[in-house]
Amino acid sequence: MWNYTVLESVGLLALFVFWALILNELWIIFYTCYLGHVLGHSIKPRKLGKWAVITGATDGIGRAYAEELASIGLNIVLISRSRDKLQSVAADIENRHHVETRIIDVDFTKEAEIYDRIARDINGLEIGVLINNVGMSYKYPEYLDQIPDSSGFAQRVVNCNVVSVTRMCIMVLGQMAERKKGFILNVASCSAVVPTPLMSLYSSTKAFVYKFSEDLALEYKPFGIRVQCVLPCFVATKMSGIKNSSIMAPCPADFARGTMKSWGLEISSAGYWFHKLQWIYYRRLNQISPSSMANVTYNIMMGLRKRAFDRRAQQQQRQRLQQEKSSVETNNPPVVPVNRYSLARVERDLNEMWPTLAEIPRYGITLHAQTGF
Ligand SMILES: NC(=O)c1ccc[n+]([C@@H]2O[C@H](COP(=O)([O-])OP(=O)(O)OC[C@H]3O[C@@H](n4cnc5c(N)ncnc54)[C@H](OP(=O)(O)O)[C@@H]3O)[C@@H](O)[C@H]2O)c1
Repeated sequence: MWNYTVLESVGLLALFVFWALILNELWIIFYTCYLGHVLGHSIKPRKLGKWAVITGATDGIGRAYAEELASIGLNIVLISRSRDKLQSVAADIENRHHVETRIIDVDFTKEAEIYDRIARDINGLEIGVLINNVGMSYKYPEYLDQIPDSSGFAQRVVNCNVVSVTRMCIMVLGQMAERKKGFILNVASCSAVVPTPLMSLYSSTKAFVYKFSEDLALEYKPFGIRVQCVLPCFVATKMSGIKNSSIMAPCPADFARGTMKSWGLEISSAGYWFHKLQWIYYRRLNQISPSSMANVTYNIMMGLRKRAFDRRAQQQQRQRLQQEKSSVETNNPPVVPVNRYSLARVERDLNEMWPTLAEIPRYGITLHAQTGF
């Protein structure tokens, strides 16, 4: 009755396995983003302790987590650089959610001494949740050695994205282990797992956060501490430069609310449901043709770099015209012209090393010039 050739049978089996894998992934997304929470399997942050500590808490994703946790009754320690912003966000949260807040103004790009201050300020608080959200990225995709003050920049990125996560975990793990409960969420990025040339330093620091979280999760599971890592694609924040939210780039509130449903149900994922679908797509593309994935991302990054240079050139042009106009009036000397070398180099890279952007299939990916990807 089933009269298939060997080749046909192998083909059908491969098709069956392919769809079984896809369905399994869709089931995991459905469970972690919706069903698990509805069934009460996700963690209840309120039961873990009275306080939540959030780094990078005055804007974007960090602020959204602060709002969500305050809305369910947790007191919040907000940490970021600007004291004014901290005071205003803290007052807003206290007024709207009737919880206590504390603020700590530190710059995570700085060296180790800031951690003594944070440790002093959170001493004695029962910390149930730590969210390591703070992170810094490139202003635009760039070759590592071409970034202005590249050594200093590299140190700041490592301090902000790697040292902060490690030191903040060390600070709270002891007291969480004593109480045998606690939850740590580390915010990485999907750039940790997809090729991200021209942002290699940022993506590698996020790969550290990913690996560190996965191993820490296993290490501290016996102590009742859950560690989770979220690796988002785009979220509409200042860092990504995306102003209008969409299904691909949700607003921070939707992102935070969505990912909180999966707390305790998985160790690492993209977090938000649509980003999880994007992940399936990236992973499959990477498996089927790693070189096209690499070429596509390389060209997208080069395009973003070119756009950033074009914008800068336009700005300089405008400034020059402005200054020329005022120099006529005030007899000032003319300003230095635009640096053509770097612009020419971008053109050469784009037009000679690789096919033009128009020839590269975009696979539905829309990227933005200033990127937290
Ligand atoms: N947005 C995305 O598309 C995206 C995608 C993947 C991953 N991520 C990751 O998500 C995290 C949050 O990003 P976001 O987009 O929400 O950023 P954001 O909107 O720019 O907010 C950053 C927050 O961190 C604080 N901050 C920045 N630099 C700091 C420093 N050196 N020390 C202390 N605080 C600092 C900022 O406040 P002050 O300026 O007052 O300090 C602000 O509260 C980052 O780790 C990022 O890598 C974002």
